[in-house]
Amino acid sequence: MSHWLNKVLVIGLGLIGGSLAKSLREQRACANVVGFDRDQREMQEGLRLGVIDSMAENLAEEVSSADLVVLAVPVKATEAVLEQIKPFLTPSTILTDVGSTKGNVVEAAERVFGRLPVGFVPGHPIAGSEKSGVAAADSQLFNGYKVILTPLPDSADEATARVEEMWRFTGAEVLMMDVARHDEVLAATSHLPHILAFSLVDTLAREEENLDIFRYAAGGFRDFTRIAGSDPTMWHDVCLANKDPLLRQLDRFTAGLARLRSAIEQGNGDMMLGTFTRAQAAREHFSRILSDTASSQTMNSSNVIFRAQPGGSVTGTIRVPGDKSISHRSIMLGSLADGITEVSGFLEGEDALATLQAFRDMGVVIEGPNQGKVRIHGVGLNGLQAPPGPIYVGNSGTTIRLLSGLLAAQQFDTELSGDESLSKRPMERVAKPLRLMGAQIESGEGGRPPLKIKGGSDLKAISYEMPMASAQVKSCLMLAGLYADGVTSVTEPAPTRDHTERMLQGFGYAVEQNGSEVSVTSGGTLTATQIDVPADISSATFFLVAAAITPGSDLTLEHVGINPTRVGVLNILKLMGANLELMNEREVGGEPVADIHIRYAPLKGIQVPEDQVPLAIDEFPALFIAACCAEGETVVSGAEELRVKESDRIQVMVDGLKALGADIEGTPDGAIIRGGQLHGGEVFAHGDHRIAMSFSIAALRSSGEIKINDCANVATSFPTFVDLAQEVGLNVNEGDS
Ligand code: S3P
Repeated sequence: MSHWLNKVLVIGLGLIGGSLAKSLREQRACANVVGFDRDQREMQEGLRLGVIDSMAENLAEEVSSADLVVLAVPVKATEAVLEQIKPFLTPSTILTDVGSTKGNVVEAAERVFGRLPVGFVPGHPIAGSEKSGVAAADSQLFNGYKVILTPLPDSADEATARVEEMWRFTGAEVLMMDVARHDEVLAATSHLPHILAFSLVDTLAREEENLDIFRYAAGGFRDFTRIAGSDPTMWHDVCLANKDPLLRQLDRFTAGLARLRSAIEQGNGDMMLGTFTRAQAAREHFSRILSDTASSQTMNSSNVIFRAQPGGSVTGTIRVPGDKSISHRSIMLGSLADGITEVSGFLEGEDALATLQAFRDMGVVIEGPNQGKVRIHGVGLNGLQAPPGPIYVGNSGTTIRLLSGLLAAQQFDTELSGDESLSKRPMERVAKPLRLMGAQIESGEGGRPPLKIKGGSDLKAISYEMPMASAQVKSCLMLAGLYADGVTSVTEPAPTRDHTERMLQGFGYAVEQNGSEVSVTSGGTLTATQIDVPADISSATFFLVAAAITPGSDLTLEHVGINPTRVGVLNILKLMGANLELMNEREVGGEPVADIHIRYAPLKGIQVPEDQVPLAIDEFPALFIAACCAEGETVVSGAEELRVKESDRIQVMVDGLKALGADIEGTPDGAIIRGGQLHGGEVFAHGDHRIAMSFSIAALRSSGEIKINDCANVATSFPTFVDLAQEVGLNVNEGDS
């Protein structure tokens, strides 16, 4: 059997060295794993426990014949061990270490070698336990954990590759970083928490009544202080070795603690809630990143796949999650209001959460979301604070476009950026009119994100005729208009969703509507209110179409927003012959809602009236599926906006539907679709949530399974889609590639 390397020598058989040796042995990575420890008994124990193949009786001999030497000794001992082995290293020996600080290891090596050997690649496995010694060696210790390598300018690529391979054998994920960054990051994420745990336990232990305190210590104390059981000598060494970065982190932490202390002293509830809610949200976000379930900000978010089986029908009564557009606006206006705004039915999808996080970053205290309930402690129109860094909005076009109007009017500078799909979308449509108002805003290459916005501009009101029908552009300018000197008016070429107008009025801010022109005058204030977010008609659409195309279906969708600027999908489905009725129509917080009852009826192809296009702008992917299941030809025109949504929705739907055997042709501003039988196949959602969900419902009428790639972004607008789909009878499942 040929091995990756012949001989690996591990110097230092503690928990880390022992676990590495044991793992390499179990993986049969090399012919011989030799172990050395200055404590003879540890070596013997390592041999007895099967951690190593053999003991290094003669260190000089073993070093000179090893392909790879791993220093797994306390960082403080590194220099002495390097001195000891230096004479026996050959030009081809690969040398690495496992120390938790890197700057001092490299300095020690420089003192020993002068010029660093090309085979030297420092490393640090981010794994461990509070146990120590070879008896605690665990071959699974690194499996699924991260290892940071810090190759040096002199390190040979070949050596780095070998060390990387070694760690891969253990199941670890290998990352590269430079030495200084490593030490800074580790000071914050590992060294500081250890110091805090040691210090807390020590402080409590010194109290006279410490016995009682420890006796009553509950889970929180145990969770927080587990790492105070770690090896004191090692942590003593780490503190000395990484002194400066650690002191910087300690100072930041101490300042934060002092702020919290004074909030407690002064009974400043907003300050306390602000800290706790921000921390809670950040922790949740980190946990999702760590478990790889966050589609945002993970560099390699996995390919979430939906598999939809053919057949079935759709029955029952459901309520889909809250309206995305209204959820965004509730956070924005609630933050700018005076007083506490309470929201229910808030959509807990990644897009609306990106808006929520942006306002938290700008100092607004927001409690929740908790089962759709959010409490926003408004800071008033002039109360936002500079965020700590660039604002990342993920996939959310509404967040970046609406925020740009608001931020153009603030005193502080900001930068807005988003994910890969958002980074392809046009931003000059907001940047241009904002510049006309006097804003200083710079877009990225090709007029796309990121947007850099300079604060401190005095905005002046303008009258703007929008070249395209866009609620996002209209809303952006209205938000800027709250701060601009005079009356800001926007005229739209066709009606678009008017949630901003309605909600501003709900917050007591006057909005004038004059035909297709809407105006706001600066100088007013917003007063906190209560908002009940209706279910999102755009999310309901997938189930409306599902029921409309499937014989035997009978479905009721409860509490759906039927704002006249959003009901294009109902009008179009009715024109196609769908059997749907609105029940229990009512108004909730300024927005009309109804329960929608839909039963199967055969659909026919139509020419979609162009005036319905802006009223159904997000619904076309699903309507394309309806058209495939209708008798005759459906023509969509005047919908070129679809080309600049989360994906080029015309192209992506044409490609996917063709793969399923549909008779469809794309046109520059729409498509021509002839109804017929769909077969199974593989399609690509291109990270577009609405495409992913549309193909899921297509399976109801396909003859085979539809496999849909790239569905992670369904979490942006409808995180519970698969569950609800299953509940009403669709056979769709989520998996990972
Ligand atoms: C939205 C407006 C629409 C829509 C988007 C949400 C909003 O975009 O497609 O999903 O909340 O204002 P445009 O304004 O770009 O048409």
